[in-house]
Amino acid sequence: MDKVLLDVRHISHRFGSVLAVNDVSFQIKRGEIFGLVGESGSGKSTLARLIMSIYRPTVGSILFDGIDLGDKKQLLQHRAMLQSARQLIFQDSASSLDPRWRVCDIIAEPMRLHKIKPPRGSYRAEAAFQLRYVGLDPSYLDKYPAELSGGMRQRVAIARALTMEPQLLVADEPVASLDSPIRAQILNLFAHLQKEHGFTFLLIAHDLDVVRYLSDRIGVMYRGSLVELAPAAELFSAPLHPYTKALLSAIPVPDPSRQKKRPPVQAVYRTAGRWTRINDEHFVREAEA
Ligand SMILES: Nc1ncnc2c1ncn2[C@@H]1O[C@H](COP(=O)(O)OP(=O)(O)O)[C@@H](O)[C@H]1O
Ligand SMILES: [Mg+2]
Repeated sequence: MDKVLLDVRHISHRFGSVLAVNDVSFQIKRGEIFGLVGESGSGKSTLARLIMSIYRPTVGSILFDGIDLGDKKQLLQHRAMLQSARQLIFQDSASSLDPRWRVCDIIAEPMRLHKIKPPRGSYRAEAAFQLRYVGLDPSYLDKYPAELSGGMRQRVAIARALTMEPQLLVADEPVASLDSPIRAQILNLFAHLQKEHGFTFLLIAHDLDVVRYLSDRIGVMYRGSLVELAPAAELFSAPLHPYTKALLSAIPVPDPSRQKKRPPVQAVYRTAGRWTRINDEHFVREAEA
């Protein structure tokens, strides 16, 4: 089995005159947690949708488990597998979960859709199991999304995604709408579930602090470009791109003397610089003209 599950090769995506994703390449290994950060509008969600085949890249290719997602024939041939093997969780489950459905039916929907026989006998029993698995009492099975808190709704979205036993879980700003204690709970849940299931995890956030503790490697997006890619610890200890440094300095630090040395977050950096290898795992886009 190939070590690389997801291979993103020079993809670009354009909406009219907006180049939302600009020549982005990276690979995610099986079982890896890959953090993707960048400010709002940097192309993160577009990238997530390209990986989920919601969009097709204008340029470039994406290989999932060796299957070229840009190849209609391969896509059709592996349609069912690709649909269950890649699962997406959105920022706001209030809008991604159907408000007219009860939790039980929301969780069971992908199994029904894919005609999967519920391993625990009935869809309800399966939904109850999955719910307990993400830390919610089965008494929530008959609730509607509006009756749940934001954190609970995210747990339901996670439970639904996990019924498909995905190879790749993509979470697009899954904690951005949550308060900080709940945010930590959900991030811990992701960490725990990833360890148990071993799925490959693409965690997207606008905030470096969110991806810091979970990620094996982190990619930094800026205006559609990937400007830096490094193992998490190295990105924090030896950031190279000025935009990465600006993001890092935006994380509050207890020492006020360090706060003063912040580079300007509003500065504009080049995005067309050369992609340069620092070592086997650390890459940066040249920012100097
Ligand atoms: N469906 C769309 N139609 C037109 N422009 C879009 C669409 N989706 C995103 N964009 C634009 O593409 C850029 C990247 O957006 P997005 O991928 O949503 O960034 P992020 O998720 O990092 O906030 C932005 O300039 C945004 O306005
Ligand atoms: Mg987004």
